[in-house]
Amino acid sequence: MAKYGIRADKKLYPIHPEIYGNFSEHLGRCIYEGIYVGEDSPIPNVNGMRTDVVEALKKLSLPVLRWPGGCFADEYHWKDGIGEKATRKKMVNTHWGGVVEDNSFGTHEFMELCRQVGCKAYINGNVGSGTVQEMAEWIEYMTFDGVSPMAELRARNGHPEPWKVDFFGVGNENWGCGGNMRPEYYADVYRRYQTYVRNFGKERIYKIACGAGTSMETPNYEWTETLMKNAGRYMNGLSLHYYTVPGDWKDKTSATGFDEDLYYITLYRSLFMDELVTRHGTVMDRYDPEKRVGMIVDEWGTWYDVEPGTNPGFLYQQNTMRDAMVAGTTLNIFNKHADRVRMANIAQTVNVLQAVILTDGAQMILTPTYHVFEMYKVHQGATLLDSCLETDRISQHAIPQLQESASMDDQGRIHATICNLSATESAPVELTIQCAKVQVAEAVILTGNMDDHNTFENGTAVEPAPFTGIQTQVAGENTLASFTLPACSVARITFQ
Ligand code: AHR
Repeated sequence: MAKYGIRADKKLYPIHPEIYGNFSEHLGRCIYEGIYVGEDSPIPNVNGMRTDVVEALKKLSLPVLRWPGGCFADEYHWKDGIGEKATRKKMVNTHWGGVVEDNSFGTHEFMELCRQVGCKAYINGNVGSGTVQEMAEWIEYMTFDGVSPMAELRARNGHPEPWKVDFFGVGNENWGCGGNMRPEYYADVYRRYQTYVRNFGKERIYKIACGAGTSMETPNYEWTETLMKNAGRYMNGLSLHYYTVPGDWKDKTSATGFDEDLYYITLYRSLFMDELVTRHGTVMDRYDPEKRVGMIVDEWGTWYDVEPGTNPGFLYQQNTMRDAMVAGTTLNIFNKHADRVRMANIAQTVNVLQAVILTDGAQMILTPTYHVFEMYKVHQGATLLDSCLETDRISQHAIPQLQESASMDDQGRIHATICNLSATESAPVELTIQCAKVQVAEAVILTGNMDDHNTFENGTAVEPAPFTGIQTQVAGENTLASFTLPACSVARITFQ
């Protein structure tokens, strides 16, 4: 019997809604086909954006979207993506399949997408192959509300009003695809480029420096150390990238049809996020004990082999209950580190890597990962509660069987999100909520076999269902609850 405790009287930190963000790159069928089909498409759309996808993202209360990359960002020249579509410059997407990028989705389209979804805009600038002037002019184009060459150009292109750029990334993976720089060099480059990311008017742009690319084998704390030491005071946020790759980068494994061993290896590797956030956070604490600089985990998720028969450069993979477990546990980790983690963006929104949505022509399916984001959206803007769990260790990797986080929203409701990582064993749980006399208001669960997934033939094979059988009783000032979590499940219980 696992013992679970939640302290309703011990509120820790606000959970930034942006922890539940997404990342959408010009990669494979994410932007084109997945999000943007063009105004003339037979697929229902508003100003070119797929209506089904926009509606699904609205239902997630998607707080923020990062664009245009990724590696694509450091080869993207924003002026190619404005003005008349027919005359926009075509380019080769060298990173992702060598396909022609026709630039029909550019700044105006991205801002229109954010407007339709109702989310904040996180734009990633080009440091690797772009100039300071180019970056400065992009900021001016998007945000300046006055008389200037870029503001006039924006007006001529049909948008006299400036947009709000909430977050701006100064380069992406500049230790790799963004220019192969060393940390000392990038720290100086960052200081220079960010100088020209001007704040026009009252709005403040949250500036994000490129952070460490990490893996279990090379957690890369040195990058964070050097950036914080040399450029910490010039940034609002520092990014961190971590992908869960079960196996080897050169010999990736399949998204479906895996065995129990690979299932546990995947979870073992994804749980490493906790150590990464903790230890990169400790490095940041040395230079920023007040935690002013946010940790921005703007790329995370599973990375498997592509689906058979698809373009290897498109990174299209299926998404199973295993991915739901990765999503549920990773989001719990971010919640628990809400004092430092300011934003996170799963890679990626549609048809790429650990996608929340898959499309095939006019068809769309929601993945198990989508359902976890939907179940967890109650944590957005809530306050993290102190909580702890005594649980068994399972598999040869000794991962915890259960993992959780809990928050209280502004109406006093308590939300507990709990994952049972065992592929085969259910888990009885005894929960004590200290200092709250509450009952179950709502409970939902996502469960199945580890390999269960949705397909275009059956899009509802994995779906949340009501979670029943929770017993509660008030004991003095506390509430006691007991329930059994089925194997391979993610549950959300709301108490009121
Ligand atoms: O998300 C796919 C790629 O992974 C991104 O373009 C890059 O930043 C990372 O290496």
